[in-house]
Amino acid sequence: SNTANDLKENADVPTFPMPRTLPLRPPPDYARLRKENPISKAKIWDGSVVWLVTRHHDVSKVLTDPHFSKVRTHPGFPETGPGGKAAAHAGKPTFVDMDPPEHTRHRGMVEQDFTKKKAEEMRPKIQQIVDKILDEMLTKAQPVDLLASFALPVPTLVIYHMLGVPYEDHEFLDTCNAIRTNGSATSAESARASKDLMDYLARLVDKKTQNPTNDIISRLAIEQVQTSKLTHDELVAMSFLLLVAGNATTANMIALGTLTLLQHPDQLAELRRDPSLIKNAVEEILRYVTGSQFATRRLALEDVEIGGQIIKKGEGVWALNASANEDEDVFSNATRFDIHRQPNPHLAFGDGIHVCIAQDLARVEIQIAIETLIRRLPNLQLAVPADELQYVTIPKRDFGVAALPVKW
Ligand code: HEM
Repeated sequence: SNTANDLKENADVPTFPMPRTLPLRPPPDYARLRKENPISKAKIWDGSVVWLVTRHHDVSKVLTDPHFSKVRTHPGFPETGPGGKAAAHAGKPTFVDMDPPEHTRHRGMVEQDFTKKKAEEMRPKIQQIVDKILDEMLTKAQPVDLLASFALPVPTLVIYHMLGVPYEDHEFLDTCNAIRTNGSATSAESARASKDLMDYLARLVDKKTQNPTNDIISRLAIEQVQTSKLTHDELVAMSFLLLVAGNATTANMIALGTLTLLQHPDQLAELRRDPSLIKNAVEEILRYVTGSQFATRRLALEDVEIGGQIIKKGEGVWALNASANEDEDVFSNATRFDIHRQPNPHLAFGDGIHVCIAQDLARVEIQIAIETLIRRLPNLQLAVPADELQYVTIPKRDFGVAALPVKW
């Protein structure tokens, strides 16, 4: 989308994403940019140039300003890689990639399933799921990969339950999901796994339409599809979104949150002594680790001024929530991990109309997962030196650890 002139002018802009120096800390360039050049240009993988927004106030402003669009078929919309770009143009979008009024209408159909009240009511079920997964993990030979054996099954089983996926289908879905998210699968393999998932969900929607049960897919089939407010295909796509949107991110927050606590043994000990600190600790984990770092991308629909910089119609913007979460103007000693931090207005779930629909559910999942893990495994520790851990990032994944070998 850049003209020859733009390219010359942008010849020396830095490349995004920028490298990290410490695996769990955001790139140090963010701190420099917040100070010296808070809204600046960077070049992404396809050679196009986007605006990086780094300060908390400005990130929040971009995410709450209706002049910015999430519709990824706009030319110049910033993508994380070729796979994402192809997916964005492949089919009809779900509400994560819509603007109002469609976004409002589609998101509104499931907002009642993800309220704070619903999340709190899920506590006993989530506790039961967490205990069962942990029981199974404890039967395995040590070391085990905490990501695959604990962190990933937690959000996966919770969302299967909420959507109404029958128990006997779990293994099939787990296999599809594993291929989709496995960094070493080819794009053909992961496309195939996505298609298998979509076909499965299409059959599940039919089944729920004929025999409704007490779950999200049944309710939407009856209330929305049978009244022609949503098409069958739209429900399949929405189910797919809900099935896959939060699993890897929540899993990463559980794994990287555990890792962060293991690296701050005094605070871990304090949390073990006083489990009532878990809610505050999880907010700090969300801020400090910022599991979802590359979702908050937008495209300007009009010329807009953000923090004194004019962003022109058609230009792409990357609102860096990981940078916002380390902004010293908002968080004192921002680079310090502090489970007592309060207030903690982090942007780990984004902001504005696209703010994570499941944020309260994710909070409860991470709270119960970590609280239960450290209570039941008082000797939990890394099974490899921390500097041998491998991380994954875009275009394969948002950001996360590839595996977290532990023993207890
Ligand atoms: C949106 C983060 C868990 C479903 C988002 C966004 C962020 C985010 C940053 C906003 C993207 C944007 O502004 O463009 C997280 C984190 C999670 C988590 C850090 C875990 C700790 C979940 C879970 C689910 C989920 C468990 C589903 C059960 C969604 C959906 C959206 C979304 C559907 C799109 C909302 C919209 O566009 O209106 N999430 N998420 N997320 N998240 Fe989450």
